[in-house]
Amino acid sequence: MKRSLGPPWTPGRTFTLATNKEFLHHVRFPKIFVAGATGLLGGRIVRALLGQGGPVRALVRPGGSAEKKSSLTGLRAAGLEVVEGDLTDPAERLAEAVGDATIVISAVQGGPDVIGDGQVNLVRAAEKAGARRFIPSDFAVDPAATGTPRFTGEVMSMPQFHDAVQRGSGRTLELRHLGTADDLRAEISRQAAVAQNPFDYVALQYQWCMVSGKAKFDRLDNDRYPQITPQPPAGFVRATAPAL
Ligand SMILES: NC(=O)c1ccc[n+]([C@@H]2O[C@H](COP(=O)([O-])OP(=O)(O)OC[C@H]3O[C@@H](n4cnc5c(N)ncnc54)[C@H](OP(=O)(O)O)[C@@H]3O)[C@@H](O)[C@H]2O)c1
Repeated sequence: MKRSLGPPWTPGRTFTLATNKEFLHHVRFPKIFVAGATGLLGGRIVRALLGQGGPVRALVRPGGSAEKKSSLTGLRAAGLEVVEGDLTDPAERLAEAVGDATIVISAVQGGPDVIGDGQVNLVRAAEKAGARRFIPSDFAVDPAATGTPRFTGEVMSMPQFHDAVQRGSGRTLELRHLGTADDLRAEISRQAAVAQNPFDYVALQYQWCMVSGKAKFDRLDNDRYPQITPQPPAGFVRATAPAL
């Protein structure tokens, strides 16, 4: 049976599907285009999507290390469709690469040429190709910003954070002292030496940045964005983890 999908699945184009089963598959798994598939994060995104049975096409720069090629061989065997290209390609060529993908995910890493210009190029290409959704990698929202603007909701100590989580969750949480920031650093080194995967201990690294004071902003640029009101931590916990 031939069937055409109507809105909202076909903005500006029509899919012709052979069977109802195929129709349902397309509705459940729209084609997803991933830039940065050879990277740490992009590779995980692609594997997770393929694992769910989704059709995935990846933009991959030609060349690269033997490790990159072997990882791509594995992903291809799992169903990945690869198109060669670069974020700096002309938008028309990138749009052809995006093709009939409905969702574009960017997991690229790089300097302003990649994160800024390259992704702007990709978002234009996605729009041109008729994609419905674009999920960017880290990106700049303030083209006039120079240096590193420091913008944050609140700067607080761990006891203040504990208090905020208690207020937000409405629960009494026991405060425990597990060691010093140096003890945490030592634990990270211990886990890094034996871990198969950096994600096993990455949360501790974030924690160390917070408790060591290394990530503390002494000066904030919040005034630069008066239209943005950060949500206080207690409100964030209340809104996002009501069942805590
Ligand atoms: N890794 C994490 O734990 C983590 C956590 C949170 C957020 N992030 C964010 O996620 C993004 C990706 O991080 P990652 O660690 O996965 O980076 P990564 O391993 O260095 O991978 C970067 C990817 O970007 C691709 N790329 C770079 N320039 C390109 C270009 N001009 N055209 C096409 N592709 C290009 C690379 O392709 P090649 O293979 O051809 O070089 C590679 O696939 C970053 O924005 C990072 O800040 C990462």
